[in-house]
Amino acid sequence: MNILIADDDPATLNLLSSRLGAWDHTVYQAADGNTAWEIIRSTPIDIVVSDWMMPGLDGLQLCRRIRQMKKSGYIYLILISAQDSKADIIHGLEIGVDDYITKPIDMDALCARIEIGVRIVDLERALNRKIEIITANHHQTIRMFSQIMEVFDDELGGHCRRTAKLAVQLAGRHSGVGDAEIPIIETAALLHDIGMVGIPKSILNKRRTEMVNDERQLYQSHAAMGARIIGEIEIMKPAALLVRMHHEQYNGKGFPHGLAGDDIPIGAQLISAASIYDNMIHKGKIALDSIAENLQRIRGYLLSPQVVELLLEINVAQQHDLARKTDEERLLDDLKAGMILAANVRMKTGAFVMAADTELDGYGIDKLKHYHTIGAITEKVLIRKSSMRS
Ligand SMILES: [Fe+2]
Repeated sequence: MNILIADDDPATLNLLSSRLGAWDHTVYQAADGNTAWEIIRSTPIDIVVSDWMMPGLDGLQLCRRIRQMKKSGYIYLILISAQDSKADIIHGLEIGVDDYITKPIDMDALCARIEIGVRIVDLERALNRKIEIITANHHQTIRMFSQIMEVFDDELGGHCRRTAKLAVQLAGRHSGVGDAEIPIIETAALLHDIGMVGIPKSILNKRRTEMVNDERQLYQSHAAMGARIIGEIEIMKPAALLVRMHHEQYNGKGFPHGLAGDDIPIGAQLISAASIYDNMIHKGKIALDSIAENLQRIRGYLLSPQVVELLLEINVAQQHDLARKTDEERLLDDLKAGMILAANVRMKTGAFVMAADTELDGYGIDKLKHYHTIGAITEKVLIRKSSMRS
């Protein structure tokens, strides 16, 4: 473990360092609070043993900074104090001190307390490893769902992926969206039309104005159906709520609930905005230079004025146009993770393999190479030049 000892008394500093160093810990020393803080910011410290009273930052101020720090990995903090009043100790514990030891220091007691810290830090690391595995599984599950949609309809899969990308951009710019909500919005946007999988294509291919009553009802059920599908997984429930609401409209005339204005969760408003925008661009019915005008038309009607402003700011039409003009063919052997496909990849038979706008990772590149090895696709794919790094 990396242990930092912070104490302005050189005798105590040396005594603690030699004792802990002998226990196979890596020991860092600081003679004042500011030096301690600099070490904590630049080094992966696991345990801090700090004097309460020090020049510069004192032990409590140091503790406050550590607890406010956005750094992965818990730092266990033991404060050494000449003060043993109950009120002082409670105050320190409340702001995040893990343990106290009073002067004069009983070395055996301190070492036993450091061992508690070692156990806590070890447990936290094990927990983080498990969370990483669960998170990776969660992302694989989302990708699996996303692929189901692509198999059902490659256009739908591409639409959902582009919608997710734009919804994340919108969420990043919206003042009412916290960092923790962005992955939920991304997941919901990626899967927002998964309920379409259960609806016959003969209905989906119709314009909404052409649908008869039963067909319209079936089409509209895709929002609730999608929410039901992904809501089966407990951690997906917040995303399921947004999927359910992605066809609500700012004027209250959407479905399934007819919510209006701010009653619609902001995440659902952003997914709706991204989806509408993507359809404007990719369905080819609206000229790119008239997108802004079309957005103004749905301002305060389908979408809130604030969300329309965000879309105008992003001006994806321009980005899209630019990216489209700078596509380049690349050999499969030259593909790298992070490159983005500029066109759908299809087998020589016409069957769908991978959608435009897919950001390639190792798995995707291997999949394309495998299809080429068995003779199903050509040796080149079209890549967005903007996604190529030299
Ligand atoms: Fe939808």
